[in-house]
Amino acid sequence: MNASSRIPGFYKLDPDSRFRKIVEVSGLPAEHLHAMRHTDAGMASIADRMIENAIGTIAIPLGVAANFLIDGRDHLVPMATEEPSVVAAASNAALVARERGGFHTSSMAPVMIAQVQVLDVADPQAARLRLLEARDELLALANAQDPLLVELGGGARDIEVRLVESADFRAVVLHLQVDVRDAMGANAVNTMAEALAPRIAAIARGRSLLRILSNKADLRLVRVRAVFDADKLGGEAVVEGIVEAYRFAAADPYRAATHNKGIMNGISAVVLATGNDTRAIEAGAHCHACRDGRYTSLSHFEKDADGHLVGSLELPLALGLVGGATRTHPTAQAAVKLLGVRSANQLAEITAAVGLAQNMAALRALATEGIQRGHMSLHARNVAVAAGAAEHEVAALAARLAADGHVRQDRAQQLLAELRAGA
Ligand code: MEV
Repeated sequence: MNASSRIPGFYKLDPDSRFRKIVEVSGLPAEHLHAMRHTDAGMASIADRMIENAIGTIAIPLGVAANFLIDGRDHLVPMATEEPSVVAAASNAALVARERGGFHTSSMAPVMIAQVQVLDVADPQAARLRLLEARDELLALANAQDPLLVELGGGARDIEVRLVESADFRAVVLHLQVDVRDAMGANAVNTMAEALAPRIAAIARGRSLLRILSNKADLRLVRVRAVFDADKLGGEAVVEGIVEAYRFAAADPYRAATHNKGIMNGISAVVLATGNDTRAIEAGAHCHACRDGRYTSLSHFEKDADGHLVGSLELPLALGLVGGATRTHPTAQAAVKLLGVRSANQLAEITAAVGLAQNMAALRALATEGIQRGHMSLHARNVAVAAGAAEHEVAALAARLAADGHVRQDRAQQLLAELRAGA
């Protein structure tokens, strides 16, 4: 960079002018940065409305997973991910689950929690009871903030009051529980929490500080289960291997983090494709994996009486259909239309099914041939292209490279020359 990153009024510029400014300030040739702009002017202006200081967009591949039979209905599931093999693995696992009825789901009411932190309370035990006595007043005040939500059948449902203490911290924390219907709910509950905080502080006779939703959305759990046919999986040994792989994750946080990452490969891809908040979902999921004080697997795998593999998964999924990028991003809107969902809960149930499928597919690969072979065949295609293979030569060269076991560019060039010489 050849100038200061301090650019007064940068935010007031339009995306094109911002881009020119960035080129100027960075000192880089414009062509090095061109890929950051979006050629589609419409998309650039949508980006400009969605975030601050936008100069363009980054395109992430959007795939569609097939074969998903969920609660007796078929779904094509849009998935946005930069990782190869994810969409194929989910589709394959869904095909195996289909054989035995597909995925079965259930979910709790879409209730989110907002926290109001109250400090400097002299009598926290009594303050807790004073707040609980004011439950109806507080719920009415909360609901007055969002008459539309109430009209739609949602609204504040209950309160909980916790005393949170550590060596250097003591607070009375009120949880407001709100049924947010088809929203992710952050805006609705944050508005209510901010409106309630002065009254809560007055009742507790303390000072309110934070007023914000909790991403530990454990009143909004989604559950999914599926039976994976033993024969389709490759037999008894494969079922055993998957159960052993699961037990490793259940016992060891080092393995559980990777195991759960495999689940989130599927979940985050649907979350992103539908314009939802990937960080909120990841935070909620990993916190749930640690709910008993020890980080463990979010899913379970066992063998049923007939020897088939049974997978189950339960996690919080705070997903919305209204508001946020789901409403403003045209691709997210199209993704929601393709899914054909009518409620945020239904979206969450489909998303959880993809998480379970993704998890099972990863464990199956890991417990059998390992994941590198699948990755290597995709990698081989990329190396074949980089070595100069023409479109009609890519498949043959990639196959030779993968069989050869040395997926490197020098070897690819050698094999390409042999291929062209008719060897
Ligand atoms: C890679 O993105 C995901 C896996 O590591 C998941 C797992 O190990 O279970 C394959």
